[in-house]
Amino acid sequence: MVRLKVIGIVGSLREKGNTEFFVRRALDRLAEEGFEVELVTLRGKTILSCQACLGCRDTGRCVQEDDFAPIFDKMVEADGIIVGSPVYFGSAAPPLMALLDRAGYAARASGRSHFSGKVGAPIAVARRAGHNFTFAQLLLWYFINGMVIPGSSYWNVATAGAGGDRDAEKDEEGIRTIEDFAANMAEVLRRVRGGGGSG
Ligand SMILES: Cc1cc2nc3c(=O)[nH]c(=O)nc-3n(C[C@H](O)[C@H](O)[C@H](O)COP(=O)(O)O)c2cc1C
Repeated sequence: MVRLKVIGIVGSLREKGNTEFFVRRALDRLAEEGFEVELVTLRGKTILSCQACLGCRDTGRCVQEDDFAPIFDKMVEADGIIVGSPVYFGSAAPPLMALLDRAGYAARASGRSHFSGKVGAPIAVARRAGHNFTFAQLLLWYFINGMVIPGSSYWNVATAGAGGDRDAEKDEEGIRTIEDFAANMAEVLRRVRGGGGSG
């Protein structure tokens, strides 16, 4: 049976950050279900803003030369895509939005998005406020790309301020929500993409 692959893209540039903590929890749960998983961090990478040059219209590839292309290729190859973002002033982090703007435009160049039929959802992480707006902002990208979005027991939002395990692991409900999401994602992946994940 074909082994399905899920990538988790971390939109925070902070080392051992909260977003990475929660995206990892989702990937760990999917790995337990037998899926191949890969965490992709934007830390240390240069992802420039979309220049609206429409260069992708001819080739389906973004013409800017930075660290975008290898990540785009992983997104196109994956069966499932999770994107995690810290909340910055009530919205998603700019490097992640730069990636999604360019990936979405390049993927839709030929008409139907390359991401159509892939499975996934976002995760938004904030210290105090702005989770829901950011979650909804990122859901818009999934929807317009024809993706299949599994639910959870709550919205995929988590609360943590200080970096990494010190704070994130205290959000028990956030962790539970992410793990419930990952379990549902495993089920939906099997049904929609038709392969394993065993278990
Ligand atoms: C520029 C900036 C803006 C932020 N804006 C918000 C905000 O609007 N609401 C909030 O609750 N936290 C805000 N925060 C805090 C982060 O969302 C929070 O610490 C998050 O857990 C960071 O995730 P990370 O460790 O993965 O980077 C902001 C942090 C930064 C650096």
